[in-house]
This record gives sequence, structure tokens and C-alpha cells, in this order.
Amino acid sequence: MTTTRNIPELTLNNSVTIPQLGFGVFQIPAEETQRVVEDALAAGYRHIDTAAAYRNEAGVGAAIAASGIPREDIFITTKLRNGEQGNAAEAFANSRSALGLDVVDLYLIHWPVPSANQYVEAWKAMEKLYADGQVRAIGISNFLPDHVDALLAAADVVPAVNQIELHPTFQQADLAAKCRSHSIAVEAYSPLGQGRDLDSEVLAALAQKYDATPAQIVLSWHLGSGNIVIPKSADSERMRQNFAAAALTLTAEELASVSALEAGTRGGSDPATAAFTQM
Ligand code: A2P
Repeated sequence: MTTTRNIPELTLNNSVTIPQLGFGVFQIPAEETQRVVEDALAAGYRHIDTAAAYRNEAGVGAAIAASGIPREDIFITTKLRNGEQGNAAEAFANSRSALGLDVVDLYLIHWPVPSANQYVEAWKAMEKLYADGQVRAIGISNFLPDHVDALLAAADVVPAVNQIELHPTFQQADLAAKCRSHSIAVEAYSPLGQGRDLDSEVLAALAQKYDATPAQIVLSWHLGSGNIVIPKSADSERMRQNFAAAALTLTAEELASVSALEAGTRGGSDPATAAFTQM
């Protein structure tokens, strides 16, 4: 049975709980998003991760509405567009309306954009949304250690999560440890390395041992490592396969053997320089 009961819940630093395994909709075209998210909900996912910049929040909202699943049973994350860091309250209102929700579960600053030097301003606006009860938790994404330090120095609310690129060949272990030391949960995006981390002998051997797929082994490694993880797939069979990874528990030695795949190769953009202000 693939039900939400199979998915562990993590407790964030403000006591809000989040299903540790969620479903990401980055790069899902707007016109396909409702169908894809309906499939994900049918597969059992109860945590959906979107962003204003993905331009598919309305499809996520339509799927939630069509599902008939009680609102409180679904955890929804969205993110502030880079070009709107000076305008976070209005940007949030637009996201909330596109999603058709009264309250968003988690709102993230999508990228620090150090060249714009506005993320502290954005955070202060998000702290207000949080204090108003419009969002149950606030956090950051793509923040490197320097950005985390600068934010914490100015913050009244410690971010609940930092969502970062994290997969076996690019683990950012120092950044993840730093976040955890400040009670900031680590959320892994591109958890499968955009599908490129799946071809390894270590994973193939573990997959054979557990009668699983390499993707399931990697997702089980994330869960066993304490990461929140948001794999994405447009394919309903792979969605189900990924969801079922929560049933698998690797030993400490097996977790270490996957961690040994670290290669220091970032697949996505470098947050030190990424701006995407058009996003
Ligand atoms: P698809 O949408 O065709 O299933 P990441 O989450 O690391 O960014 O990886 C997403 C990529 O990995 C997508 O290209 C997706 O392709 C692919 N993918 C997702 N789940 C699996 C799986 N279980 N096995 C193989 N590839 C997968």
C-alpha cells in the first residue's frame, strides 16, 4: 500500500511537521502540472514542492482542489522569485492566490542572489507573513554558508529549512552540517542528480540486494541521512517507484558506501553567482 503513513515526518524547528519525502514539480510544464500532481497524490505523496518561478503553481492548486484530500493532509511549499525579493509580500499574495490556498505550509527565498543584496529585506517581509499566520514555516534555498551567516545575523526567525542541490556525487556536507547545527533542516533538490547519479556499481549492487532500483537506493540514502527529499518525475510508474523507496532501510555501512560516491560535481547553478532575476 502506498499511503502517506509510510512516509516519515520530520519536525521542523518551529514544531511544524513535514513529510520527509515529497514531490517536486520543477520543469513540469504548466499545462501538464495538474495531471502530474494528481498522479503524485494518487501515488500517495502528500508533500508538493513548487515555486513561483516554475510558473506551475496554478496547476498544483487545481490538482489539490480536484483531489478532495483534506487541505491539512497536504504540505505545500512554494518560493519567492528572485526578481521579487524587494516585493515579497505581494509576491506571496500572488503565489497564494495561484495555489488557491489560505495558508501556505512553507515559503522559501528561492536563491540568495548576492549581487542584488536583498535577501535580508525579503526575509524581514517573510517574517511578517509568518507572524501573520499566512505561512506555517519560512526558509531558504540555495544559501551557501556565508549567506546563512549573514541571514542569521539579521533574522528574528531561524529558517526552518535550506533547500539545496544534494545528491550522492554532490553532497555539500559542510553546508548541510552547518545548517543542522543551527536547527535548519536540509532539503535535497536534484536528489537523483537529475537522473545522472543512478549509474554506479555501488547502487547496482544495493539495488540487487534489496530487489529495488538505483533511484530507490539513492532516495533511501537521503531518508537515512535525515534529508527532506523531493524527487520529480513526469512518469507515474517512476513516481510510485520513488514513493516506495521509503519502505527501504539501508544499514549504516550501506549509507556510508553511497556517501563515498561524493565527487564534488555541481549539476545546477552556483548560488554564489546565480541571479536569474528574470525568474
Ligand atoms: P522522468 O521525469 O522521465 O521520470 P532529479 O529529481 O534529481 O532532478 O531527477 C529528475 C530526473 O530523474 C528526471 O529526468 C526524471 O525523469 C528522472 N527520474 C525520476 N525518477 C526516476 C527513477 N525512479 N528512475 C530513473 N530516472 C528517474
